[in-house]
Amino acid sequence: MDTVYVQTMWQVMEELRDANQLESALSGCLDILCKATGSPKGTIWMYDEQSGSTIALIVHGTSDATGESAGQGEGLVGSVTASGETEIHKAAEVQNMKLAGVDGPAISGKNLMCVPIKTPKHTIGCLLLTGKEVAYTEDDKRTCENCCSILALDIEDKGFTFRPFENREPILTARNVIKEFPSGEEIHRILKGVDLDIYPGELVVVLGESGCGKSTLLNIIGGMDRMTEGELKVEGRDMSDPTEAELTEYRREYVGFIFQAYNLMPNLSAYENIEFIAEISDKPMDSMEALRLVGLDDKANNLPAALSGGQMQRISIARALVKSPKIILADEPTAALDYDTSIKVLSVIEKISKENKTTVLMVTHNPEIAKMANRVIKLRDGKISSIRVNLHPLKATDLVW
Ligand SMILES: Nc1ncnc2c1ncn2[C@@H]1O[C@H](COP(=O)(O)OP(=O)(O)OP(=O)(O)O)[C@@H](O)[C@H]1O
Ligand SMILES: [Mg+2]
Repeated sequence: MDTVYVQTMWQVMEELRDANQLESALSGCLDILCKATGSPKGTIWMYDEQSGSTIALIVHGTSDATGESAGQGEGLVGSVTASGETEIHKAAEVQNMKLAGVDGPAISGKNLMCVPIKTPKHTIGCLLLTGKEVAYTEDDKRTCENCCSILALDIEDKGFTFRPFENREPILTARNVIKEFPSGEEIHRILKGVDLDIYPGELVVVLGESGCGKSTLLNIIGGMDRMTEGELKVEGRDMSDPTEAELTEYRREYVGFIFQAYNLMPNLSAYENIEFIAEISDKPMDSMEALRLVGLDDKANNLPAALSGGQMQRISIARALVKSPKIILADEPTAALDYDTSIKVLSVIEKISKENKTTVLMVTHNPEIAKMANRVIKLRDGKISSIRVNLHPLKATDLVW
C-alpha cells in the first residue's frame, strides 16, 4: 500500500486521539492534509444546520476566509457539502470560480480539491485544498476522503458542536498590506501582502516569531505608521493613504494602544494619567470608571513610581480604554511581567473584550495566550500563515505557562 496514504491516516488518528476540542481536531487534520498533498493553502468549512450554510472555520495559508459562508449548493464549498462528492479542478479550467456563493471570493488559475467531511449518514462540512503546483491526484483524493471520514466520525463520536457567528460586517479590513523599509541602499519588504478582517467585539491574537512583522502590522492598523501599498478600511472609511489630520483624528478617536512599555507620565497620578487623555477625546468614559474597570480605583492618587509593573500596565490599559475606542491594539502587553501579574493584566483585557464588547487585537509570541482569543492569526515572514477560530476560548485565569 502507498506509504503516504498509510502515514497520513496514522497521523490523523494520532491527532484526533489527543484532540479534545473541535478546533484542535480540525486544525490538526488540516495541517496534516495540507502537508500530505503539498497544498500551501487549505480551509475547513463546517455545515450549520440552523442557518443552512457552510462556514469557514479554519484557514491554513494566506487568505482570510474565516467568517465566509456558503448557502447549500452555492459555490464550490456549498456544492460539495450538498452533494457529498469530492470535486477536483485543474488550474487551467478554473476561471472565476466562486468559493462560497454569489458574493464569495472568486478564484482563477488554481489547482483545487474540495472533499466532503462526512459520516456514512451526513455531510458535516468540507475540506478545501488549493495552491498545489500540479493537479490533485486520485491518491490525494483517496487520502483526504478517508481522513475526512475518520475526522467526521470522531466529531460525531465526541459530540463536538460549533456555534456559528451571526452574519456580521468586519469593523476593519486590510487588503494586500505591504510595508517596505529602506535599509542603506536596499529596500526591505517587511509585510508582504497581509489580508485581514476584524469583526466587532472579537478578541484576536496575532502570534509570530520575533521580527516577522507583528508590531509593524499593528502600527499600521493603529495609524502610527503608513503602509507602502495596500488598503485599510475601518468602519467603511478608507485609511489606506490618510492625511496627517485624518491620521491624528483616527488615532485619537478610534484606537487605544497598549504597549509593552507603559509610557505613563511620571509626575501625574494614576487618575491624572487617564484624565489627561480623556480631556482630549471626543466621547471619553469617566476616568474613575476606567480605573474601576482595571480594578485600580483605590490607587487613583498614586504616582506611577508608587505602582507595581502590573498596576502600571493596568493604568495604561485604563488610559487606552478611557477614549472609548472602537479597537484596542495591544503589543506584547505582558512581555515585561511575571506570570501572576500577566494573568491579572490578561484578565482585564478579557473583561474589556467580553463585558465592554471592545474589539481587541493583541500581539504576543506566547502561544498559551492565544488560547484566550476568539481567533488566532499566525504571521510568518510578513505574511499570514494560518488563521484559526477558537470555539472555546480559555479564561485568562486558566492559562498556564
Ligand atoms: N522603522 C523601521 N525601519 C527599518 N526596519 C524596521 C523598522 N521597523 C521595523 N523594522 C524591521 O521590520 C522587521 C519586523 O519588525 P517588527 O517590529 O514588526 O517585528 P515583530 O514581529 O514585532 O518582532 P518582535 O516579536 O521582536 O517584537 C524587523 O526585521 C525590523 O528590523
Ligand atoms: Mg514587536
